[in-house]
Amino acid sequence: MKVIHVLGARPNFIKAAPLIKAMNKSLDVENIILHTGQHYDKNMSEQFFDDLNIPKPDINLGLGGGSHATQTAKIMMGCEEVFDKHNPKLVVVYGDVNSCVAATLVASKLGIPIAHIESGLRSLDRTMPEEINRIVTDNLSDYLFTTCVDGVYNLVLEGVDEDKIFLVGNTMIDSLVEFEDKFINKREKEYALVTLHRPFTVDSKSRLIEMMDSLMEISVDIECVFPIHPRTKNTLVKNNLYDRYKSRILMTEPLGYINFMSLQKYAKFIITDSGGIQEESSYFNVPCLTVRDNTERPVTCNDGTNKLIGTDYKNIPNEVKNINFNKKSSIDLWDGKASDRIVNVFKDIIL
Ligand code: UD1
Ligand code: UDP
Repeated sequence: MKVIHVLGARPNFIKAAPLIKAMNKSLDVENIILHTGQHYDKNMSEQFFDDLNIPKPDINLGLGGGSHATQTAKIMMGCEEVFDKHNPKLVVVYGDVNSCVAATLVASKLGIPIAHIESGLRSLDRTMPEEINRIVTDNLSDYLFTTCVDGVYNLVLEGVDEDKIFLVGNTMIDSLVEFEDKFINKREKEYALVTLHRPFTVDSKSRLIEMMDSLMEISVDIECVFPIHPRTKNTLVKNNLYDRYKSRILMTEPLGYINFMSLQKYAKFIITDSGGIQEESSYFNVPCLTVRDNTERPVTCNDGTNKLIGTDYKNIPNEVKNINFNKKSSIDLWDGKASDRIVNVFKDIIL
């Protein structure tokens, strides 16, 4: 019996790793890893397979980037061929990236059951491509695994049958727990960690300048370490901005999982627009300032160490001064065992 796991982008690898391992250990199924190639640089893809100890992809479609329509369409065509050939009993999709929604559309039309890991998150902001991907994926999925209780509420409000919803916790935190012993502080001085990659934050030259100027101001008091996503680097380089900031802000290439998580665990605070980092920083009890107007992960603000500070980037230095370093996280089911719970559901119901 075959199960195809569809992975495409950096966060997918982290969310899928523990589940694939748990399924390999406890279920009598053939797990096939299909990598769409949405992320393709070594430090955005292969390094994660090495760091997280995931078996190499069985199939890599090598499809890369493109406009949303082009990328989604290419991935759909690639998935259709693979699904037709292998006729899987189940397709597992992760998160909210284009690879996830493309695989879901294909599997649903072929009548293949779909399990969505990290279901039910909603920012209620349809200008974000991820929100559209979440809505479509959840609507078409058969087994919806949520990380937190507000994910369950969102799905119920949208009319999803409660029998399809399983509150299991967060597989991204499973990876963190599995590898936490390897996260080591290699820096002598205190530092802030920065990551930015949302189109709204980094595609506009003027907004990115405003952001980088704020980081320069913060870096007077504390070193800012900034592993740069390729999308962000493209805007900096295209607009001749990279050199302007590199003397004061420590800009690095994207980092592999172990190196990045080591930096995250020991950071004094974090400035980010990432989804996953809002969650991981809460587990680490590291204060996180999220430079967005909304979040699909409100649990990290209510029960974790995250704070939404909006998109007026001039305010960031002031927000840094007001960080509450005493806030502590308490999020139910983020305990390293979400994948085991998913496997139990698969045992009982699906496979
Ligand atoms: C994608 C996801 C986003 C997720 C992010 C995680 C969608 C719509 N977006 O955004 O939800 O938060 O991944 O990091 O699925 N590029 C490279 N090398 C790579 C990968 C990308 O150079 O290995 C460059 C390419 O120029 C590409 C651009 O980055 O066109 C954007 O990549 P893409 O995968 O389309 O979107 P992300 O911004 O990475
Ligand atoms: N990450 C990493 N190296 C980096 C930046 C991020 O290993 O240089 C990890 C980190 O664990 C993060 C995850 O990749 O939670 C997801 O990355 P990203 O922020 O790109 O995606 P999102 O969660 O916003 O979809």
